[in-house]
Amino acid sequence: MRLIKVSDEEELSRMAAEYVFSEIKNADRVVLGLATGRTPLGMYRYLSKYSKEYKLLFSHVHTVNLDEYVGSRAYHAYMQENFFDHIGIPINQTHLPDGEALDLERECKRYEEVIQQLSGIDLQVLGIGENGHIGFNEPGTDFSSRTHVVELTESTLSANAKYFTHEKQPQKAITMGIGTILESKEILLLAAGVKKANAVKELFKGSLNENIPATVLNHHPSVTVIADRGARSLLEEES
Ligand code: PGA
Repeated sequence: MRLIKVSDEEELSRMAAEYVFSEIKNADRVVLGLATGRTPLGMYRYLSKYSKEYKLLFSHVHTVNLDEYVGSRAYHAYMQENFFDHIGIPINQTHLPDGEALDLERECKRYEEVIQQLSGIDLQVLGIGENGHIGFNEPGTDFSSRTHVVELTESTLSANAKYFTHEKQPQKAITMGIGTILESKEILLLAAGVKKANAVKELFKGSLNENIPATVLNHHPSVTVIADRGARSLLEEES
């Protein structure tokens, strides 16, 4: 696992955008796995800016998001607002789980098929939860899990409550499974702020542990972590 140390969230956003930008620029076709939440917002802002400055077309880019809340389109709206509307990507090349599907089990299977039909994910961008979750794979999730419906934990609900001022916060979500995420060819994990310090310490120093889902990334051959000073604070205290 490679660690890129940056000083703050601004530098993290720029580095992450440059990383993704070079992947897009050098490929004939690319499947990007995307994340929502606070951490990647700056990366999307920079990528939107680069797409205009360098006239980068996204016509060869396909995207698959990690997750969506059940009964909601909150993450569809987030992606539209913060990224898709700014880069001119053909909308039929963007994919998120449908949290409003009537048959959620069937939707999970459909989403796995979408990823397969795209021939898998080239680069998956991940955040990390305060509790070490990746996607919405909460502590205790089987490492071989595929796309599935999850009950969100108290920790995740309270970390994300701020996004639900106009809508009742859903208690469930559809998420790519850990097994699904691990099949990505390359992973870029972003961690910002002191609230992530314990999860980051466990990621680098902890042993493989289903109660801290991110530790499974030690078993992936190509993971890069970009972490700011706050997120590294406990890691560096120890070394
Ligand atoms: P955040 O979420 O970027 O909003 O901190 C990350 C995550 O929960 O995976």
